[in-house]
Amino acid sequence: MAITRVRGFQDLQGLPASVASHIELLCREIAQTYDFREIRLPLVERVELFQRSSGETSDIVEKQMYVFPEGEEGSALVALRPEGTPGVVRAFIETGLDKRDPEQRFFYSGPMFRRERPQKGRYRQFNQFGVEVFGRTDAACDAELLVMIDDLRKGLGLKLETQINSLGCHRCRPSFREALLHFGREHWGELCDDCHSRMERNPLRLLDCKVDVKLAESAPKSLDYLCEECRAHFATVRELAAAAGVELIVNPRLVRGLDYYTRTAFEILSGDVGSQSAVVAGGRYDGLVEALGGSPVPGIGFAVGVERLSLAVESSPGGGSEEVSFSSFDGRVDAVLIALGDAAIRHGMGVARSLRKAGLRVEFSAPDRRMKALLQRAAKIGARFAVIVGENELNRKSVQLRDLERSQQSEVPQEQLASAIRGVSAAT
Ligand code: HAM
Repeated sequence: MAITRVRGFQDLQGLPASVASHIELLCREIAQTYDFREIRLPLVERVELFQRSSGETSDIVEKQMYVFPEGEEGSALVALRPEGTPGVVRAFIETGLDKRDPEQRFFYSGPMFRRERPQKGRYRQFNQFGVEVFGRTDAACDAELLVMIDDLRKGLGLKLETQINSLGCHRCRPSFREALLHFGREHWGELCDDCHSRMERNPLRLLDCKVDVKLAESAPKSLDYLCEECRAHFATVRELAAAAGVELIVNPRLVRGLDYYTRTAFEILSGDVGSQSAVVAGGRYDGLVEALGGSPVPGIGFAVGVERLSLAVESSPGGGSEEVSFSSFDGRVDAVLIALGDAAIRHGMGVARSLRKAGLRVEFSAPDRRMKALLQRAAKIGARFAVIVGENELNRKSVQLRDLERSQQSEVPQEQLASAIRGVSAAT
């Protein structure tokens, strides 16, 4: 009898293989324009890593991991990675970057394994393209990731919907948790078995109940329990995304299936791929590095589900248009963008985006830092230019272009910025 492939595992050839490769290449190019660096990690990690990050009560850890002993019988258990984030955090800590140099931007690409019930868009081996940013707490960083996903959407010519929520932080989460526990106890008889077993350990999972969706809908919402800082952070993320033309839909029921999220959580949905409609998902995880034994360094990231996005491309009527064109790279950073003041942040994100569209590699600096620290960071990552946008430049539709190598600065009209940077870079 002929040997067949294992259920939930796919062969890709022809168009689906080409579409998947195209998506991965585009993700890679876009990630490079946003100054992400590649990290390549093992497919196998210790089981505890996922238990302590993805979470004991997540479906992934409870039911879906491929677990086996590392060596002889009785040796420690390891798992095929079900997601990329925990491995990146582990490597970040293990290499000492959390202490030595915590502001990092990584991307990764490769297969993940989850023993889920297979169906269209849900496989036991699937590919993710993910990015993780460490060391940034500012809302502009969250908004930029949403803009980056929008670049990908445009590059693929897709219509997608971005849903977003804020899950609060270690300060406001406890009161939300209490409210959920109270709600859960009141409705104990109506809850499903999974909810019963997870309630005390992680009542947030109640919101994600697939059995009694109606009940979950009437449960308390995290947005009603946010502290002042979380509320302001969430408002700024939404405002900056809107200013960049990225439409967001607030979904107060969005909790995500993984335990590490704090504050911003989001899912990008396609209407063209059936019930498994989340093609990209991610969020902030400010406590995860510390929970895994590292320094208290914040983090945020997302992962693209390559197969699901391929399905969206294959089934969308306009799929394949190329509004954004990205060129190839030699690894240098062309510029850091420094925005001074709230209006300049909004505007500066647009300037950074247009430079990236022109094929330049640009890092948008943390707006909550001092100029000196920002210029030091620019020098460290080898940026040739700092593009500085303040109130005055905003009004004059110009920027200050600082050549960091020659220590020269001049005011340049915005429409000439990309060619000014290119001209100098090419001449040296
Ligand atoms: P996730 O929501 O578990 O998040 O997965 C991200 C994406 O991977 C999903 O939106 C979906 O497109 C795809 N995906 C997940 N499971 C499957 C499956 N069984 N078959 C096909 N595609 C699938 C994470 O993994 C987080 N690590 C994302 C993240 C990065 N958060 C912060 N940084």
